[in-house]
Amino acid sequence: MSTYTEDQRKVTTRRLAEMKQRGEKIAMLTAYDYSMAKLIDEAGMDVILVGDSASNVMAGNVTTLPMTLDQMIYHATSVVKGVKRALVVADLPFGTYQGNSKEALASAIRVMKESSAEAVKIEGGSEIRESIERILCAGIPVMGHLGLTPQSINKFGSYAVRAKEDAEAAKLLEDAKLLEELGCFAIVLEKIPAQLAEKVAKELTIPVIGIGAGGGVDGQVLVMHDMLGINKGFSPRFLRRYADLSTVINDAVARYIDDVKTRDFPSEKEQY
Ligand code: KIV
Repeated sequence: MSTYTEDQRKVTTRRLAEMKQRGEKIAMLTAYDYSMAKLIDEAGMDVILVGDSASNVMAGNVTTLPMTLDQMIYHATSVVKGVKRALVVADLPFGTYQGNSKEALASAIRVMKESSAEAVKIEGGSEIRESIERILCAGIPVMGHLGLTPQSINKFGSYAVRAKEDAEAAKLLEDAKLLEELGCFAIVLEKIPAQLAEKVAKELTIPVIGIGAGGGVDGQVLVMHDMLGINKGFSPRFLRRYADLSTVINDAVARYIDDVKTRDFPSEKEQY
C-alpha cells in the first residue's frame, strides 16, 4: 500500500478536483484485467485507466485502432471487478465516437452499463465537441485526451512530441479550455513540451494528467506493461521503469520448464 493513500474512500471525479485544489498529485495507471487491477488498486492507485493501449500490450497490434467496443467492455468489466477504491475510466475505442454524436452516446452508455466503469476517456478537441456534449448530457463523466492522440497516428505519421510549434500549441490550449468549459472532469496530455503542459494545468481548474508532459501537471499516467518492464521494446524518454518483470517472468518460466523436463516437478508433496 502506498504511504499516500491512507484515505480508503472511493475516488470520485469530485475527489480528483479536490486533489488538484489542494495540490495533491494524482496517480493513474492502466490495467486491462481483474488480477492486475486488484493489485494496482490495493497499492493505492487513484485512477485506473482501461486504455485502448490494450490493443498494443494485450492484443499485440501495432496501433490502438483495431480495438473494438466489445473488447473494451470485456477489459473494463474485468478491471471493475478487481477495484474497490480507484476511479475506473475506460477509453472509447477508435471509430465509436468521432463521426456521430448519437453513436458516441450509445458507445459510452454501453461501456457504462455493461462494464460499470465510472467514466470514459475520448481523444480530441473541438472536432468532437458534439460527442462530448451529448455524452455529458447523459450524466457520463468524460476525461479528455489531447496532444499525441494515438488513435490519430495515421494523420500524425509518427509518435514524435506534439505541439512544439506555436500554432499547434495554441490550438491545444484552446481545446483544453473548451473541454473544461464543456464539462470534462479531467484531461490527459500526452507527449507535449513540459512548459506547455504546465501552462495548461495552471490555466485550467480541472485536473490535467500527463504522460510525457513533464512534472508541472496535476498527475501522471503510464501504461502498466511499460512501467513494470513487461514490455521492454518501448523505451521513450518519459518512461520510468519500476520493475523488470520480463526478466522475472522469463526466469520463473525457464525454471519451471527445467523442473518439468528433469522430473523435479511435481515432487511427492505436490501430488495426491
Ligand atoms: O490507452 C492508453 O493507455 C492511454 C494512455 C497512454 C493515456 O490513453
